[in-house]
Amino acid sequence: MENNLSIREILEWYVTAGVDETFGEVPFGLEASKPKVDAAPKPVLTTRAEDSVSPRAATTDLAQATVSACKSARELCAEAQTLDELRKMVEDFDGCALKLTANKTVFGGGNPDSKIMLVGEAPGADEDRIGLPFVGRSGQLLDKMLKAVDIDRTTCYITNVLPWRPPGNRTPTDGEIAVCLPFLKRQIELINPEVIIVLGGSAANALLDNEEPISRLRGKWLEYRKNDGKTIPVLASFHPAYLLRNAAQKGKAWADLLRMRQKIMP
Ligand code: URA
Repeated sequence: MENNLSIREILEWYVTAGVDETFGEVPFGLEASKPKVDAAPKPVLTTRAEDSVSPRAATTDLAQATVSACKSARELCAEAQTLDELRKMVEDFDGCALKLTANKTVFGGGNPDSKIMLVGEAPGADEDRIGLPFVGRSGQLLDKMLKAVDIDRTTCYITNVLPWRPPGNRTPTDGEIAVCLPFLKRQIELINPEVIIVLGGSAANALLDNEEPISRLRGKWLEYRKNDGKTIPVLASFHPAYLLRNAAQKGKAWADLLRMRQKIMP
């Protein structure tokens, strides 16, 4: 078939599909970078064309793959006794298709003995390139926000709900969140912080298992219930990326962080 698309149209198509940056001059396919095949129970990541007889069957396959990936993540997590073990499990986990398009697995980072754990949504382009959470523009604003309440970022533990960047920074699906949540929950158990700050509505909804908008959640103490029934106080606040676009809301985010500081350093 003749291809009459201009270079601009082709590039626009790539950007729409989530391919918004390049990492080298030579293209490589997913085949070449296929993850290792030795991980424990192996959920189906994609539906093969010959298997998908109808959209309904494909949807059912996907739902089953998600359920099986969630189970596999939960079972794996229970075995992780240290953060390093958990990091290795996340790096080796093949149950979330986001891993196929991500450049790096972005596990949590910072002080594992911290009283403060900050949880964002998912790595962005900079985090995906470097492999650490909150190192791009949002991270730089986060550092300043913490500094404004006299907290050095390096004294905190910082992580995300998802360890892999969704292509083009799209909103993660419920299935992707469900599959990755056990890894976050195990991180919380292993860090055992005194307070958790969730940044943005998506992270807050995932961790608190609700659908409230961030405007209703922020500014008040909420609770995260661990598997052992004990609770950790949670404060939801605006995501730094939102604050970069809505500077007028920075005062509220500052008030949230002050509230957190007063709780841990009365
Ligand atoms: N946004 C997030 O939610 N997390 C990051 O690590 C970076 C940007």
